Amino acid sequence: MEALLNNETYFFRDRAMFDLLADHVLPELSRTRASTRTLAVWSVGCSTGQEALSLAMLFAEQEARWSGWTINILGTDVSEPVIANARAACYTPFQIQRGLAVGQMVKWFDETPQGWRAREKLRRMVRFEKHNLLDPLPNPCSFDIVLCRNVLLYFDDATRTRAFGRVASALAPDGWLMLGAGETTIGQTDRIAPDRTLRGLYRHASFEPAEQRSCSSRRAAG
Ligand SMILES: C[S@@+](CC[C@H](N)C(=O)[O-])C[C@H]1O[C@@H](n2cnc3c(N)ncnc32)[C@H](O)[C@@H]1O
Repeated sequence: MEALLNNETYFFRDRAMFDLLADHVLPELSRTRASTRTLAVWSVGCSTGQEALSLAMLFAEQEARWSGWTINILGTDVSEPVIANARAACYTPFQIQRGLAVGQMVKWFDETPQGWRAREKLRRMVRFEKHNLLDPLPNPCSFDIVLCRNVLLYFDDATRTRAFGRVASALAPDGWLMLGAGETTIGQTDRIAPDRTLRGLYRHASFEPAEQRSCSSRRAAG
């Protein structure tokens, strides 16, 4: 099975998508989760951990906004060896340079004899577990953001629909799903739909933004 898996990944892959998270999704969540000051993020098919650590860097870079918050980033992958690598959070000179500017590299990683190791501040936010997306969900079961990028493109249609069902069950009612460039939910599931304004981001098909909800209830009230 390992031989059939494609584990290609790098830091801030499709950087424009991370900009969308930083500029739109995180500011919204900082308001909607202000009462609990807790966020749960799931990186599905995380490979060797660069995606989860890129998310951790986004939060760490916005220090003032997230001070006093609990940020839990869970990375899961069906492959045991990549999860072992992700847990070590240690990268070769080739891996560390893919997607990271030198400034970020020296700010968030220490050069060790084993490679470039993520600093404790990032490691404290992330946890890695072996998990098959088609199996019952890991804990916690409600995620504010789910990244499932470049994983589903290897599945056949029926399996992809099942996988979207798992993701939909794990996503908070007002949560955000991000897929890989060129991936879509259209024609694959009726539970999740593209966000109306932010291309590449998806929400529950039943989700209505607050301002729209108040318009609908005004309409219903006549
Ligand atoms: C191409 S990598 C993508 C890594 C990262 N998400 C990114 O976009 O950079 C795909 C990963 O999905 C994992 N994967 C494939 N099938 C999976 C499944 N059923 N459950 C969990 N992970 C899976 C593979 O092991 C591989 O590490």
